[in-house]
Amino acid sequence: MSKHIVLEGFMGSGKTTVGIRLSYKMAMTVTDTDKLIEKEQQKKISDIFAEDGEEAFRKMETECLRNLAKQGHGQIISLGGGVPMRPKNREILKTLGMVVYLRAKPETIYARVKNDTTRPLLQCSDPLTRIRELMAERESMYEEAADVIIDTDSLSVEQILTDIVREAEKRGISSCSY
Ligand code: S3P
Repeated sequence: MSKHIVLEGFMGSGKTTVGIRLSYKMAMTVTDTDKLIEKEQQKKISDIFAEDGEEAFRKMETECLRNLAKQGHGQIISLGGGVPMRPKNREILKTLGMVVYLRAKPETIYARVKNDTTRPLLQCSDPLTRIRELMAERESMYEEAADVIIDTDSLSVEQILTDIVREAEKRGISSCSY
């Protein structure tokens, strides 16, 4: 088992917030596949979807994971919500470290993302139905990729962090400031 803590989950499941808070708690750096891709491409995810298409974006995600797999130092990696859908990506994830699935119900997700315009897949007339459909398609793949599953609906961020730190400790993933 290598040393990264990888956060996966649906859009709006809290990966970014949890990743940042965990990075303070564990004194580890945090990185985010969406941000890495935006930096590399010099454009926003919504522009990549509009100009290059979703398939091109999915290839960028795989390339991004390959690059992360080459990096030596342990860090927290927050994944774009669709990353675990590709079998190749799930293979790479298995080599990266502890994969934590931040699971949330469609209604919880909807409440968090309903006013957000940055997620191209949810820009439709009935986002809640879309969330339910996508989740039904994706659930088994998130589960397959996960080493740890946390049901986040009724948990505070602090409780989620406590669970992750405990699981990291069990696996000998180092942390020093909690
Ligand atoms: C996507 C999730 C987004 C982003 C893109 C596609 C998905 O990331 O990668 O809009 O397919 O679920 P977040 O999960 O950080 O919103």
